[in-house]
Amino acid sequence: MNKRITLKIAKIEDETKDIKTFTFKHKLDAKPGQFIMITDFEGGEKPLSVSDCSEDEFSITVKKIGEFTSRLFQKREGDFMSIRGAFGSSFFISDGKVLLVGGGYGSIPLYLLAKCLSEAGADISVINGARTKDDLVFCDKFRELGIKIIITTDDGTFGEKGSSVDVAKRMLNNRENEEKFDFIYAAGPEMMMQALQGVIGDIQYEFIFERYMKCAIGICGNCTMDPLGIRLCVEGPVLPKKLVEQLTEFGKYHRDATGKRIRY
Ligand SMILES: Cc1cc2nc3c(=O)[nH]c(=O)nc-3n(C[C@H](O)[C@H](O)[C@H](O)COP(=O)(O)OP(=O)(O)OC[C@H]3O[C@@H](n4cnc5c(N)ncnc54)[C@H](O)[C@@H]3O)c2cc1C
Ligand code: FES
Repeated sequence: MNKRITLKIAKIEDETKDIKTFTFKHKLDAKPGQFIMITDFEGGEKPLSVSDCSEDEFSITVKKIGEFTSRLFQKREGDFMSIRGAFGSSFFISDGKVLLVGGGYGSIPLYLLAKCLSEAGADISVINGARTKDDLVFCDKFRELGIKIIITTDDGTFGEKGSSVDVAKRMLNNRENEEKFDFIYAAGPEMMMQALQGVIGDIQYEFIFERYMKCAIGICGNCTMDPLGIRLCVEGPVLPKKLVEQLTEFGKYHRDATGKRIRY
């Protein structure tokens, strides 16, 4: 919904030293994978995934990166923010055996997905990876859902040493323990998702893309992907296998605020 509303921050929680969750009391009706545009009217409006959503409240979970997110980190409970949304496509909710693969703060949209999959009765495994222990998000929240969770860190400071794709590859190649998945979901850096695509085989999947967004309503064209011209703010950010396979720019380049292509 493109109507702007101004909301009070009801709760702020620390997830890691540079990731916080902000909760607002508002019925948003967002589905897993959807995002909002948020501003404090002091410069910039930014896309952020809905990390949790219930009848009367929703949350966003934010990594401090640059100017806007640093300013957001200065906000206190009771301060006001203005939002539009929720926007975009959402994840398919399977009731089969599913694997969720997350990398770094890219894992953020996977929590609401895991919650909805759990309600649908899916058999869920999550690989939650990050560069180092301090960058891991939502490990406890995933555990609270009672689902299988495998934690990986690139430097081995927590869980298995290596990337989430290394673990996914091992699980998908292991025919003996009957880890046969019906559906795979991934969220994280594009290079991670591209590596994952290479080991998925013929299993159906959906990936969520975080590209530079400005209008979020399909007008400016900044978030289109070659050669299909898919607007990630409308037809995405969640894309199914049949579309991802046709994207020639996937893992090769993205666009900056001016629309200029930047090589990964
Ligand atoms: C659909 C979607 C969902 C997202 N969900 C989350 C989330 O749940 N949590 C989270 O922490 N981050 C999320 N992001 C990324 C988030 O929008 C950026 O981290 C944020 O905009 C950075 O702004 P900044 O001013 O702090 O940093 P800047 O210094 O302005 O930018 C740092 C980097 O952030 C990215 N970025 C900046 N502006 C935008 C923009 N308008 N659109 C997309 N990327 C941008 C670029 O890669 C840029 O290089 C999401 C992005 C998209 C497109
Ligand atoms: S952000 Fe403008 S078309 Fe998608």
